[in-house]
Amino acid sequence: MKPVVLLAAGLALLAMSVQAKTNKPVNPCCSFPCQNRGVCLNGREPGTYTCDCENLPFYGKHCETPYFWTRVALWFKPSPETLHQLLVSENLKWLWNIVNNVRFLHDWMIRRVYLTRAEILDTPPLYETMHAYPTIAATTNHSVYARCLPPVPLDCPTPMGVKGKEKLPDVDLLLKTFFTREKFRPDPQGSSVLMTFFAQHFTHMFFKTAYKDNPGSTWSGHGVDMTSIYGSNVTDEHRLRSFKDGKLKLQILNNEEFPMYSKDAPVYMTYPSAVPQESRFALGHPFFGLLPGLFLFQTIWMREHNRVCDILREDHPDWDDERLFQTGKLITLGQTIKIVVEDYVQHLASYYVYVAFKPEVLFGYPFQYSNKIVVEFNHLYHWHPLMPDSFNISGNIVEMKDYIFRSDLVVKHGTAAMTDSLSRQRAGHMSHHNHGAVTMHVLRDTILQGREMRFQSFNNYRARFNLKPYASFEELTGEKKMAAELERLYGDVDAVEMYVGMLLEKRRKRALFGSTIVDMGAPFSVKGLLANPLCSPLYWRPSTFGGERGFDIVKSATLKKLFCNNIKGKCPLVSFRVPEYVEGDVEEATNFDFRPPPRDEL
Ligand code: HEM
Ligand SMILES: *[C@@H]1O[C@H](CO)[C@@H](O)[C@H](O)[C@H]1NC(C)=O
Ligand SMILES: *[C@@H]1O[C@H](CO)[C@@H](O)[C@H](O)[C@H]1NC(C)=O
Ligand SMILES: *[C@@H]1O[C@H](CO)[C@@H](O)[C@H](O)[C@H]1NC(C)=O
Repeated sequence: MKPVVLLAAGLALLAMSVQAKTNKPVNPCCSFPCQNRGVCLNGREPGTYTCDCENLPFYGKHCETPYFWTRVALWFKPSPETLHQLLVSENLKWLWNIVNNVRFLHDWMIRRVYLTRAEILDTPPLYETMHAYPTIAATTNHSVYARCLPPVPLDCPTPMGVKGKEKLPDVDLLLKTFFTREKFRPDPQGSSVLMTFFAQHFTHMFFKTAYKDNPGSTWSGHGVDMTSIYGSNVTDEHRLRSFKDGKLKLQILNNEEFPMYSKDAPVYMTYPSAVPQESRFALGHPFFGLLPGLFLFQTIWMREHNRVCDILREDHPDWDDERLFQTGKLITLGQTIKIVVEDYVQHLASYYVYVAFKPEVLFGYPFQYSNKIVVEFNHLYHWHPLMPDSFNISGNIVEMKDYIFRSDLVVKHGTAAMTDSLSRQRAGHMSHHNHGAVTMHVLRDTILQGREMRFQSFNNYRARFNLKPYASFEELTGEKKMAAELERLYGDVDAVEMYVGMLLEKRRKRALFGSTIVDMGAPFSVKGLLANPLCSPLYWRPSTFGGERGFDIVKSATLKKLFCNNIKGKCPLVSFRVPEYVEGDVEEATNFDFRPPPRDEL
């Protein structure tokens, strides 16, 4: 026989054996054929499917074709990359200055930001973590996280659908190759560790995984509800309250006001048994004894609540404890959102446009005041590389292992010195090779939980958030060495896992993060803040806050005031950016000297 015939016969045999092995055709939804939020639905015959494009601005077999007006709109719409470049461009500072100073232009701009970010999300949510298809539980069951993309179907040939290898890389190999910190790399945007603790304190209010059940279960209230300060339920809240003048219980230590010890206010806390009594405080979240920075925020917010209650009582001498407490809580909630938007998000975005908190610009526009926490948002917010390996408290260097569960350090050094030191110390870069020893196990769990929940690929998440999927590993990392190693492990750029991709992705100009964390995180963040009931038209008025004075406290809140109003004596430095920061003072991540671990170690 001629070789060609032999080859053909061989191929036919091979095809037959594949057919015999798999027996039925591959589930076509495994290749994620539907675009632009179309839904893949399997047909009655195996191997068939349809894309449901109903009610979308796209049509076609794969929802790939925009309707005329969508096409026109897309034509004018800048890509997320272009938009970012415009907003951080030095050359356009003059333009953003005008926008910042002309009321109607600024309102228009802010409204565009709120609406375009929020409309990317499913509201109400379609998916939750217990099912692979839409359920009503996505809205009604508060014990499960919502989910942005459904899981990779169970019957797919590879863990990411059809792309990549049959097995994902060994997790410990990933940690060793890409994530372990050798030398601390500072954040190129100059963030302080005060910012880091703010992030952790604020987000743990709604990222509350019930790990003992399942990585998709939660005990969250699904929004900014202030449980991080007041306790996660009414039982604990009562233990933290003094029941006098609306105030929270406090004790004086070293001439300063602090939360109570656990023994005196027995809220549920998770302290390891070795933690001595003087470090065991009763806090709003069972986990907040972990780090002195969290304890500092708890202390300052407790003082602020009590300060606000005094002001309310002046205006309303007839109000009882309950009303003072509840109204005080609404005010601190409003202040939190204001500070998160105008100090924190503004810092993270570093746009030249002033990112403002103006709930009123949405009145009369289609916007839903409801929120559900999404599990991918939780994963995206695992910002452990921000943590340094030691802390400098007014010249005293405290190693991380001696810092954990040491709330007493805040009492000892005082809130002023603590705030000052945290504002002067630089946070780490949220990037590869920058996980400190104490958080390696959290990273490991995060990657494994992503696998357990069968998260779709990093590139599928990019597509979902209107970002161009990366065509190659080099395009993803922006360099060659890590890209080569990543390719060896994953085989296909479309098979990279979500969290891994987010950390290895090249960074943008003037940015702590890569584009995926920003463009995926911003919608959840905007929605979570602006969809708070407090931002709705009937809440957002003076009477909600006990009158004009309370409303003004909310509308004029700043991070600096929060601390300065509650620390006796000279106000320390209060800043999310270290004072000596100069733009471009540290090397970008792409210049990192990457050496893959020796082969025999793998
Ligand atoms: C030294 C500092 C930190 C330590 C030791 C630490 C430790 C931990 C631990 C043990 C968990 C639970 C993970 C698990 O059981 O699988 C966790 C979860 C988490 N951490 Fe950290 N963390 C630190 C700092 C931060 C910071 C600065 C952020 C920034 C926002 C952050 C964000 C998160 C988030 C979002 C979760 C998920 C929480 C949940 O779903 O319940 N962490 N961390
Ligand atoms: C919510 O979902 C979880 C997990 O599926 C289930 O155990 C629980 O009973 C549900 N709760 C309600 C109120 O339906
Ligand atoms: C209140 O929350 C704590 C956890 O923070 C929990 O241990 C306790 O059982 C809860 N109590 C009620 C009544 O739900
Ligand atoms: C610690 O902070 C002090 C300022 O409070 C500074 O003078 C000193 O250089 C810092 N030490 C280190 C090792 O960063």
